[in-house]
Amino acid sequence: MKAALLFGKRKGGARMDHLEVLKNAREILGDKCKVCPDCNGYACRGQVPGVGGKGSGESFVRNREMVKQVKLHLDTLVPNQEIDTSITLFGNKYRYPFFAAPIGALEMNYHPSLNDLSYNEHIIVGCREAGILGFTGDGAKDEFYEGPLKIIQNQEGVGIPTIKPWNNDMIIDKIRKAEASGVSAIAMDVDAAGLILLAMAGKPVYTKSVEALKEITLSTDLPIILKGIMTVAGAEKAMESGAAAIVVSNHGGRVLDHTPATIEVLPDIAKRIKGQMKIFVDGGFRSGDDVFKALALGADAVLIGRPFAVAAYGGGSLGVKEHAEKVGNELRDAMLMTGCHQLADIDNSKASTMG
Ligand SMILES: Cc1cc2nc3c(=O)[nH]c(=O)nc-3n(C[C@H](O)[C@H](O)[C@H](O)COP(=O)(O)O)c2cc1C
Repeated sequence: MKAALLFGKRKGGARMDHLEVLKNAREILGDKCKVCPDCNGYACRGQVPGVGGKGSGESFVRNREMVKQVKLHLDTLVPNQEIDTSITLFGNKYRYPFFAAPIGALEMNYHPSLNDLSYNEHIIVGCREAGILGFTGDGAKDEFYEGPLKIIQNQEGVGIPTIKPWNNDMIIDKIRKAEASGVSAIAMDVDAAGLILLAMAGKPVYTKSVEALKEITLSTDLPIILKGIMTVAGAEKAMESGAAAIVVSNHGGRVLDHTPATIEVLPDIAKRIKGQMKIFVDGGFRSGDDVFKALALGADAVLIGRPFAVAAYGGGSLGVKEHAEKVGNELRDAMLMTGCHQLADIDNSKASTMG
């Protein structure tokens, strides 16, 4: 039976089984994404466009492999208290410290059964129902930004739009539209500066100096999140530009081959800017244990990319919601077993890379 029919049957509060979501997604996605038991970048090496990492695919593979190297330190000799997984960001409280990363060009990268509009509807609604945020993307056509933004607006601004690094006039125009939609923050994937496909479609993207970024951050009262920072120097420049947050990210390994893993560069970046800017990280984080690892190594929150896309293809907004709850339950369990009652208790004594 086609997955679309299954979504229809599930409406009205019924739960959707995780394995069933994966099975549906596998059926729909075919060769595009194998929906591997561990989403680790091996089967899709080099598939850009597609779901893989650029070139050799090594940046995606390394993201995942290095997350797996970090181990949690078990300790249950603590008082028996409620576990609180919630986080407050930009004035709003969310149930968990992880969110759905922006994923664009769905028809080309994944499968035409969802486009950028229907996909983001599932992401924004499913995430909101789970008590978290979904990020949406941007593209060569205005509708790729404005359609998802409308969905966020319909969900009372619960979602974060991501703007590509166009020329500043275009960016500021898109910021004005985001402000009118009631969002609490705006992201910009500065690491998209090398995306040739956009230039070929007549919409070039650019690298940004600190001065150019300042013009953007000063143009709005909303917090700006710069996505695609991989060095301490980059984080310092983001701070100097007036950004409120960064995403330590290599775009899931899709913009540059042979980068370090995001979790490898995270601790030094956190050491430099923690407490002065919010730090998100993404790339290879799959489970609640992985979210815990990111927080232990200095992140405030995590973005999860490909697994939410699989959940949306295999289960619509219900699949997205269930996926968020699964990861949230895993995080709660990891906190219980490491003696953490709240996110602030998760530090580098709770998880580390073993020699
Ligand atoms: C198919 C695909 C499309 C993506 N499109 C965008 C995009 O439009 N904008 C953006 O900021 N990041 C985009 N990303 C990167 C993700 O937001 C995120 O950084 C990355 O997927 C995180 O790694 P993970 O998938 O291993 O969790 C895309 C990633 C994939 C796999």
